[in-house]
Amino acid sequence: MTHKIPTFPADFTWGVATSAYQIEGAAFEDGRGPSIWDAYALMPGKILNGENGTTSCDHYHLWQQDLDLIQNLNLNAYRFSVSWPRVLPEGMGQINEKGLDFYDRLIDGLLERGLDPHLTLYHWDLPQALQNRGGWANPDIVQWFTDYALTLHRKLGDRVKSWCTFNEPWCTAELGYHIGRHAPGIQDLPTAVLASYHIQLAHGQAVLALRGENVRGEVGTVLNLYPVDPATGSPEDQEAALLLDAKINCWYLDPVFRGTFPERALQHYQNQLGAKMPDLDLEALKVAAQPLDFLGVNYYYRYWVSTEGKTLQNVERTDMGWEIYPEGIYRLMKDLHREYPVPKYYITENGAAFKDELVNGQVHDAERVRFLQDHLHHLQRAIAEGVPVSGYFEWSLLDNFEWAFGYAKRFGIVHVDYDTQQRTLKDSAKWYRDFVGEQRGIL
Ligand code: NOJ
Repeated sequence: MTHKIPTFPADFTWGVATSAYQIEGAAFEDGRGPSIWDAYALMPGKILNGENGTTSCDHYHLWQQDLDLIQNLNLNAYRFSVSWPRVLPEGMGQINEKGLDFYDRLIDGLLERGLDPHLTLYHWDLPQALQNRGGWANPDIVQWFTDYALTLHRKLGDRVKSWCTFNEPWCTAELGYHIGRHAPGIQDLPTAVLASYHIQLAHGQAVLALRGENVRGEVGTVLNLYPVDPATGSPEDQEAALLLDAKINCWYLDPVFRGTFPERALQHYQNQLGAKMPDLDLEALKVAAQPLDFLGVNYYYRYWVSTEGKTLQNVERTDMGWEIYPEGIYRLMKDLHREYPVPKYYITENGAAFKDELVNGQVHDAERVRFLQDHLHHLQRAIAEGVPVSGYFEWSLLDNFEWAFGYAKRFGIVHVDYDTQQRTLKDSAKWYRDFVGEQRGIL
């Protein structure tokens, strides 16, 4: 189904998103320290085809041409993350000025091209030096993270439009410390619960510290959120859906908005872990509920929960196996606005991987074009019904290092040939460019 998408607000933010480890490469240049992803990629069998982010899209060297690309897509914003170990190779203490200068130049380059810098502090590449001390499981990380935030703020604060503390903290805690499918590859639920708690404290303290220095830009955070549907009306499926919603959505929303953990998930972990349940100071958690200027939402798919192991049949899926469910963005934003109101939401990520092929200098990714059209259609419905969504960042500008999947999954609207570093606009990039141009009255 292709829709004529109605008009978005005139001052809407249109962007693309990336993250440092996924595109920068130059992993050991100009004094960058090792990150947990460098170490994790060295562990046999962790990343598909034994790949890593050491070179990736070489954005560290090609950033000017990449910023030109963004500008030529008619966009007005760019969401990127800072590599903590590039700026602080040991995670704390000595600043690597060359690393900090890279972001200084990047931000100036964005402003010169009329692009608003939306900066994410933590998109998963923790300095290995801090992991050696326990990483997110060590309570000291609250201070380490706050100091890192202030280091960036002192250098870049005059120009950053928007600060995001964390990207998808569920992934850091759950995939990194429980399932072990992300760096640092730990598989221990109590450690994961503790890590998620420290992330909340670090978020709250960093926001307080930024406000304490009269931060000029807006401040918020980015969560991966999902509609969760029971497969059937059975009490078992319904209960399982409620529990998953509590663990994946509310566990991250409630601290930030209410300073609490959801009772259902807390009880669940307590029952499951017994004496191994970490001793969480729920009084201290209140610091997480700092007033925010925006909530960033990464929307990809919904969860469909069956206690009998059923899976959704006859639905279209992306190359990740994720259901293509555009209505989900509408449902999610409507629910959020009712339950967790903030003055402003951004869609900080939305996009899809498909098996793209470069043929004669073209990539005809019709599925991605339709994916974008359909999601924007349903997003616009939510806005028309009063949800204050101020911007949309497509994930991603470039094909890049898709974590445990290496380079096998292509999310870009721009194709990357990893042998030559040649960038080629896919049809989706051209569609997005023309669509945004029309919305912004540029064409
Ligand atoms: C969300 C993450 O923030 C990003 O790093 C990842 O590449 C995309 N999802 C796609 O999986």
